Amino acid sequence: MMRARSRRRRHALLAASVALLALASFARAERRHFVRIAEDGTSFALDDTDFYVHGFNQVQLMSHAADDAPAPQNASSSHQNGRAKVLEVLGDAEMHGFNVLRTWAFNDGIGMWNALQVYPGIYDEKVFRALDWLLWQCRRHKIRVLLALANSWSEYGGAEQYLEWARSRHDNSSGEPYPTSFYSSLACREMYKRFVRKLLTRRNVYTGVEYREDDYIFGFDLINEPRAHTAGELHSWTREMADFFKSIDGNHLLTSGSEGFFGPSTPDLKKFNPGDWTSTHGNDFYRNHAISSLDFAVFHVYPDTWFNEGEGGETCDTDCAIAFTQDNIRAHLTSPLPKPVVLEEVGKKGEGRDRYLEEVFRAMHDSHIDGGYGAGTIVWQLSPSNFSDVDSFSIYLPEHQSTSSLMREVGVRVASRIASAYHGGLSLAGWVSHITNAKIRRFFGNRFWRKHILPAKPAAAEVSSFAASDPSAGGPKVNDTSAALP
Ligand SMILES: *[C@@H]1O[C@H](CO)[C@@H](O)[C@H](O)[C@H]1NC(C)=O
Ligand SMILES: *[C@@H]1O[C@H](CO)[C@@H](O)[C@H](O)[C@H]1NC(C)=O
Ligand SMILES: *[C@@H]1O[C@H](CO)[C@@H](O)[C@H](O)[C@H]1NC(C)=O
Ligand SMILES: *[C@@H]1O[C@H](CO)[C@@H](O)[C@H](O)[C@H]1NC(C)=O
Repeated sequence: MMRARSRRRRHALLAASVALLALASFARAERRHFVRIAEDGTSFALDDTDFYVHGFNQVQLMSHAADDAPAPQNASSSHQNGRAKVLEVLGDAEMHGFNVLRTWAFNDGIGMWNALQVYPGIYDEKVFRALDWLLWQCRRHKIRVLLALANSWSEYGGAEQYLEWARSRHDNSSGEPYPTSFYSSLACREMYKRFVRKLLTRRNVYTGVEYREDDYIFGFDLINEPRAHTAGELHSWTREMADFFKSIDGNHLLTSGSEGFFGPSTPDLKKFNPGDWTSTHGNDFYRNHAISSLDFAVFHVYPDTWFNEGEGGETCDTDCAIAFTQDNIRAHLTSPLPKPVVLEEVGKKGEGRDRYLEEVFRAMHDSHIDGGYGAGTIVWQLSPSNFSDVDSFSIYLPEHQSTSSLMREVGVRVASRIASAYHGGLSLAGWVSHITNAKIRRFFGNRFWRKHILPAKPAAAEVSSFAASDPSAGGPKVNDTSAALP
């Protein structure tokens, strides 16, 4: 009797714990880790811990990943072995502590190399799978992804391609006005929305997860660098598309993708624009980002192209570029907007690059540490060794050694926030509490830190062999692809 009862009890206990375990693993499987806005409203959080963006742009990765044929021995084409190049840059980025990649999730028009949307609503499945693969690889490298949904420039199709499509389908007798602007054309807006819906509801063939459910997607840009004829046109487009996006995807952070020029809503800040020419592009940093469906604000800074190459017709050396950028950053962080602010594109050509970037990274990160709205910097742009330097902004890691060590330093600083060397020394108590917090545990757990930061500085040879030899880093394995297909 006793034995039977105790056996029954044991069985009941066993059943209960099995049920609990099942529940726990179910909960674990269900638990997703989206980056969100922190409670203080000034920064990002991941699982209730601080998430500061140490990001890099590399916009062509989807197109390169679509060229997955291995390079022949004598290959001279830069359009081969694309996935190996993608893995090279992801490996480098991970080793430098980057936590966000910003890239294009679009490529519009049959004329484009590896177009995703070849005609309105018609997609190339091979390219979609390349984007799936890219997202999957970013997950494996612990790098989150900020995806832009279109381009306001004509590169990779973008607004001009949509406008062309709208015009070619336009029936002048329909009563609809002939399309003159991407932002106001009804046909363009509908095509854009159809693309957004398609992308967000796409199920990744490698991970089985819909894009809108993918927690390794950091967030989305509505469109890269919108410039419209009028402020009203851009503002209502931004509001309409942001609301549309949120009606499909409530998980992800959303922003404009804008260069963030100041407009009429903040007359005092207009003097921080690079020139009066910005007033004709419809941007209004404060007003545009105040739209409630946008979660954070962004801006871009390019002293080289703004001053030295014409738009303003002036010249600006490194000191001038630093001074301008510091003022510009401060203006963006002290605008009345209560949302995290990311410097989403910043680059520098030539000699003064490291000094310039160091000041920029410092200004944004200092704001964050001081409880300000600075929430990250995304440098323009990291390139794998075989990508040509199309705009003279490319940073090749680890060949560009001084920039490489700067990037790694920032990565360490961001991951640890010990920051003692950088910030002139925190107190010992502060240091110990930083050491013990969850961020540091993650810091030690990361493959990069474990292998490369903690022991010593890696030798260059070690760095490059790491990407090739670490099986979990992927490596240039063509078979990877087919094996993972469902
Ligand atoms: C590579 O080699 C193949 C066969 O030897 C040849 O047909 C091809 O033209 C070569 N390609 C280049 C780019 O040299
Ligand atoms: C890049 O090009 C070099 C020389 O052209 C070649 O040896 C190397 O394998 C290429 N790397 C990738 C990843 O394609
Ligand atoms: C429709 O009108 C626009 C501008 O008014 C013109 O450029 C276009 O060629 C016309 N299309 C057709 C098919 O007539
Ligand atoms: C994939 O792996 C199999 C077996 O390991 C091999 O026979 C095949 O050639 C590989 N395919 C490619 C494309 O490398």
